[in-house]
Amino acid sequence: MTERLEDIALAMVADGKGILAADESSGTIKKRFDAIKVESTEESRRDYRELMFRADDAMKNHISGVILYDETIRQKAADGTPLVDIIKAAGAIPGIKVDAGAKPLAGFPGDTITEGLDGLRERLAEYYKLGARFAKWRAVIDINEEENVPSATAIDANCHALARYAALCQEAGIVPIVEPEVLMDGAHDIDTCYEVTKVTLLQLFSELYAADVNLAGTILKPNMVIPGKKSGTKASPEQVAEMTLKVFRETVPAAIPGIAFLSGGQSDEEATANLNAMNAAGPLPWKLTFSYGRALQAAPQKAWAGKKDNVTAAQKAFAHRARMNGLAAQGKWSPDLEKQG
Ligand code: 13P
Repeated sequence: MTERLEDIALAMVADGKGILAADESSGTIKKRFDAIKVESTEESRRDYRELMFRADDAMKNHISGVILYDETIRQKAADGTPLVDIIKAAGAIPGIKVDAGAKPLAGFPGDTITEGLDGLRERLAEYYKLGARFAKWRAVIDINEEENVPSATAIDANCHALARYAALCQEAGIVPIVEPEVLMDGAHDIDTCYEVTKVTLLQLFSELYAADVNLAGTILKPNMVIPGKKSGTKASPEQVAEMTLKVFRETVPAAIPGIAFLSGGQSDEEATANLNAMNAAGPLPWKLTFSYGRALQAAPQKAWAGKKDNVTAAQKAFAHRARMNGLAAQGKWSPDLEKQG
């Protein structure tokens, strides 16, 4: 029996749980491994991801789903068990990144367009057979005010691609995570982030509507509204919560069951504190949780450092971050709880 998209989507944002984004491409995971002086090989990538998926305390209690990369969804653990089966045994849902990355948008220097639609129907059918019940597609919207980035053309093209991807996913029985990431790398202030996020989300939902996408079977993965890294300013969790919730109330239909944030380069604790502040400001029409990559994995990667003897310490570090974010997803986190870890 095929599961209903609406039920999968609700399970992805179950109370106190969020998503582990472990779908780094081979290039990105190499960068992460370089930072901890570990060579990136098929085996080291497998060993690292296996230790995460076997961290029962984190996985069973705080992780609803795991986004995988193509290599990982096909990999087996050291004992021969498919990694997908380990994830399922922990009660989490396997997911898959299906975009082919952001490429320069012809005619618009500084803008990118995410590729990967060609052949996607066939790839989704295969991923379904391999166990994936949700997918992810990331559009990248940079901000560079001096260079007129992003252009309206880039926002339109990316949102159109997200909608075509989402429709194909639902046809295949797979819940689409739609991720329009407004980058935090620029020198812009929080108001500019708010404006660009607002225009992007308005366009996204217009395209999803035009493509007849079932919103109740869709999860939104957005950025938070924060000042750019190069602006030299920081916003408090309360300010981030206020601006982010404002933009969602103005643009995100209540039919969307859940919003699962990316961390985007925020520190671990910032990403947790900001998520907590939003949930503490409820009630809200949607579940608000995490779909973090770096903010969940930086600590375990550092603890692991490629050594077998460090596996338990790395699993503990992952469990701590997963627990803190699970609490933040319910507005129950505090800096004091953070210290207990
Ligand atoms: P970060 O949380 O590291 O931004 O990664 C989330 C993600 O999946 C980006 O596509």
